[in-house]
Amino acid sequence: MPVEAADTLAAKDLVGIARLTPGEIQLILDTAEEFLEIARRPIKKVPTLRGRTVVNLFMEPSTRTRFSFEVAEKRLSADTLNFSASGSSVSKGETLIDTARNLMAMAPDFIVMRHPDSGAPHRLAALVPASIINGGDGINEHPTQALLDAFTMRKHLGHLDGLKVVIAGDIRHSRVARSNAFLLTKMGAEVRFAAPASLMPVAVDAIGVTPFYRLEPALEDADVVMMLRIQRERQGNMNFPSVREYFDFFGLTPERLKAAAPHALVMHPGPINRGVEIDSRVADGRRSVILEQVTNGVAIRMAVLYLLAGGHGE
Ligand code: CP
Repeated sequence: MPVEAADTLAAKDLVGIARLTPGEIQLILDTAEEFLEIARRPIKKVPTLRGRTVVNLFMEPSTRTRFSFEVAEKRLSADTLNFSASGSSVSKGETLIDTARNLMAMAPDFIVMRHPDSGAPHRLAALVPASIINGGDGINEHPTQALLDAFTMRKHLGHLDGLKVVIAGDIRHSRVARSNAFLLTKMGAEVRFAAPASLMPVAVDAIGVTPFYRLEPALEDADVVMMLRIQRERQGNMNFPSVREYFDFFGLTPERLKAAAPHALVMHPGPINRGVEIDSRVADGRRSVILEQVTNGVAIRMAVLYLLAGGHGE
């Protein structure tokens, strides 16, 4: 069933997919189609956000999200300020709220933030007039990642409703898995989580996905296979005996991928750990759209900034 796009985004912030309607998701995906075209021009810049200021507030490491937002902001002609915890007064004990209040005294229009605490963007959104965009909060959500993943699926497969999407790996600690599950179920896809019991979220049924404790049955006729890395930074130990054993049971190999549909896409939000959750022959193989996800991320982030600035769907 096709979803009709909303005209605008209702909230001033994008803190999570959980708060978006299917119409708003459709609006962001459709708007990103327009912005993807700008990346193909010799001069990749439009004046849409001229005179607006964006603070990129990253309290956790990031390669793709941080640079993708910065490229998106520059292509929209915004002024950008980059803030990281190391090298700032956070290292002297300043809190997130005090940091944000001081940044707000310089009147930015947007704060793009990544933070180790789940819910940190939601707290800030309630306190400041700037638009808050969540670039990943703890184990909660990573909304622009799910949007760029959905955009990539739709580009290749033409639709989201009815797709069988496998998300496999360290799901318990993955904000990418949560945001993707929220988005894909809202848009009518069937989501399968595949993980060892120790890496499966506790309330998996409440998310509306089907859990699998072995990879092979989850892969049957899948349209999309999204692999996740083991998030060692979010767990005291690895929750499985060894990397080798993990790869033996849950690593995506060319042999295992044969169970998926012949047109199945292989996706990964990055960073990938070759030989842990994915074989290099699959990561670099013809079904992999991993680098295309990164390209599409810029268009999605341009669309989100444009719409939060008051832009409308065409
Ligand atoms: N996909 C993603 O969030 O990657 P980074 O951690 O490099 O931003």
